[in-house]
Amino acid sequence: MTPLPMVVPEEGLPTEVTIYEVGPRDGLQNEKAVVDVEVKSAFVKRLLGAGLPIVEATSFVHPKWVPQLADAEALMTGLSADLGERARELPVLVPNARGLERALDLGLRHVAVFASATETFAAKNLNRTLDSQFDMFEPTVAQALDAGVDVRGYVSMCFGDPWEGAVPVRQVVAVGKRLLELGVGQLSLGDTIGVATAGHVKALVAAFGEAGVEPGRLALHFHDTYGQALTNVHAGLQAGVTTYDASAGGLGGCPYARSATGNLATEDLVWFLTGLGIEHGVDLDAVVATSTWMAGELGRPSPSAVVRALGGAGE
Ligand code: HMG
Ligand code: MG
Repeated sequence: MTPLPMVVPEEGLPTEVTIYEVGPRDGLQNEKAVVDVEVKSAFVKRLLGAGLPIVEATSFVHPKWVPQLADAEALMTGLSADLGERARELPVLVPNARGLERALDLGLRHVAVFASATETFAAKNLNRTLDSQFDMFEPTVAQALDAGVDVRGYVSMCFGDPWEGAVPVRQVVAVGKRLLELGVGQLSLGDTIGVATAGHVKALVAAFGEAGVEPGRLALHFHDTYGQALTNVHAGLQAGVTTYDASAGGLGGCPYARSATGNLATEDLVWFLTGLGIEHGVDLDAVVATSTWMAGELGRPSPSAVVRALGGAGE
């Protein structure tokens, strides 16, 4: 029998959390070896089968910028053939109107734009300035909303930037507010390089609150570079945030932020939430089996502590 943590709820925390799975996108975008489209498709289907309610499937970015996801059309076409309407509900990243057009051509219903909280990362990731990134997002979000498509807004480098160092909380709130004013539904606050600590998480969520943005509009997106991701989730839960991005097996990174390592592992998050008695709807065994299989495909063990503890470092 697979071990599970003893359930001991903690007062004052939400009773239910949404896990927003980003493994096929954030997890695979940084892989050196090109992962076959059939493997990606199987990965997405296995994650859905494990009960993950939202699986971000790929990115409609420039293929030269992220070659690993150059097969976005092929992946989504294949998934539509296999899953029908369910595939069109899978979110994808679109940086601009061209990316949105590609997503709309396939009938997709959920997209995400991704902004930078810092000048340097806006240049490196989007070839734009902090200000001019919004010239790209504005028509993209407007067109998506016109087409009845839901838009998520990411903000990267919310807790620190490898080139600029500390990032003032007010700068992050300003970028987040501008995305919300364009009409994005949910705002995902990214700790792209994994430097956040618990007090900082609470301070940022509180600063958004003071600016009129309730925790229900926010998601938290932690990379686990310094091993702080779960502590940061705990801080987020205490602050009332109920959506957490995670990546099966802890895959991930950003090709335009070299110090970014893997995302918070979905399995580690599931273990943690289960122990707190917080509903998440995910089958831990099925995600571990998926990450174990994926580790075999990638030829290296999963960095997730929970995947390792449950004996699934690689099939
Ligand atoms: P650019 O070079 O400024 O693009 O790149 P452009 O607008 O000048 O267009 C140049 C050419 O690219 C044109 O073609 C466009 O049509 C084409 P031409 O006329 O020369 O033949 N083009 C496209 N082709 C296909 N799909 C597109 C597209 N857009 C333009 N979407 C651009 C600007 C935004 C495109 C580029 O910088 C880019 O693709 N960046 C993506 C970088 C990326 O994907 N990074 C990783 C995701 S973000 C992340 O991981 C962080 C996150 O996880 C949260 C966190 O951890 O913080 C979300
Ligand atoms: Mg990320």
